[in-house]
Amino acid sequence: MAPDVRRPVVDLTEAEARRALPLKWGTVPDDVIPAWVAEMDYAVDPVVLEAVQRALADGVTGYPLDHYPELGEAYAGWAGRHFGWAPDAAAVRAVVDVTGGVRLAIDVLSGPEGVVFPTPGYNAQHRLAGITGRAEHLLEVPASAERAEIDLDRLDRLLADGAQTLILNQPHNPWGRAFTRAELEGIRDVVLRHGARVVCDEIFAPLVLPGAEHVSYLAIDGTHDHAVAVVSASKAFNTAGLKCAQLVVPSAADRARLDEEPMSRNDSYSALGVVAALAAYDHGDPWLASLVERLDQQRSLLGSLLATHLPEVRMRPLEATYLAWLDASAYGHDDAAAVALERGRVRLSDGASYAPGSTGHVRLNIATSPDRLTEIVERLAKAWT
Ligand SMILES: Cc1ncc(COP(=O)(O)O)c(C=O)c1O
Repeated sequence: MAPDVRRPVVDLTEAEARRALPLKWGTVPDDVIPAWVAEMDYAVDPVVLEAVQRALADGVTGYPLDHYPELGEAYAGWAGRHFGWAPDAAAVRAVVDVTGGVRLAIDVLSGPEGVVFPTPGYNAQHRLAGITGRAEHLLEVPASAERAEIDLDRLDRLLADGAQTLILNQPHNPWGRAFTRAELEGIRDVVLRHGARVVCDEIFAPLVLPGAEHVSYLAIDGTHDHAVAVVSASKAFNTAGLKCAQLVVPSAADRARLDEEPMSRNDSYSALGVVAALAAYDHGDPWLASLVERLDQQRSLLGSLLATHLPEVRMRPLEATYLAWLDASAYGHDDAAAVALERGRVRLSDGASYAPGSTGHVRLNIATSPDRLTEIVERLAKAWT
């Protein structure tokens, strides 16, 4: 297949989705539409699929190498094309997945004191601090539709009180925000003042929608001595189960520390995951362009569906990701996700798992077909109103 011919996004039928996405679709009853976990109801890019099928046919089912220089080259090439900035290819290491990369970076590179975690924040990374043996400090940001910025004064206080690491997720799940260069510079200034570290989860960088841009934290001057980024093609290409993300480590001293770690610290990424990542970075641009176009359409559709059926729902305009953070509190249900499931037969993600204590918020995954998104919002309207 010619790699540079534009390839369309293909919607999975319900039966196909149930086979392809066992977590998202296989864990709900037949009458429930799942719009929760961050997986897309789209067929995998044929170029990525072909590469993985070829590797399987070749019998690539054994251990991976402990270093893949070509993965660094592929990521650097891809980042340069997409963001106008690229890390040194030699700065890239394979890791099992993004969450594993965040954990590895904290374990090996961070001081022993607390970890700052902005909330709402990706639910599976709540308590990651504890898993690395460090205290977790939630940096609460009011979970409102209007405000979705890191509170620099609060960050300053937490670092002054002794926290030593910030887990920054940008583009942000579930705010759907792509932070601006100025915002990132503000964060850098606070972090530098306290000699703290940043572990930046940039998994959604490929999914910045028209009107916004992704600026890597590592593209900001003065970040290389205190920061790493964890990146992956897996969210944009629906290949999370193949297990290969990348840790970008610009400091040679940090790399030396990581490279000295025993294999058992980072031995879980898979050779097939590397194959998928290489195919996505080297040949996935034509499919990714179609995907971003589709997600842009889905975001507009969601806006009009909400205006028609659920006008009291508040939502910041989605700048990135396919995850909409909805404030449905005006409809008076503390646990809006539970009501959506019980009465609407739609499974959403409960906002309280991203922002402990918040009520009336949900996260809605819009990476599906226009028809299914329409049905979802119509069902939510019946359930909540
Ligand atoms: C912000 C964020 N980081 C990481 C992940 C998970 O990535 P991985 O499966 O590579 O750990 C997700 C999954 O949705 C996410 O939203």
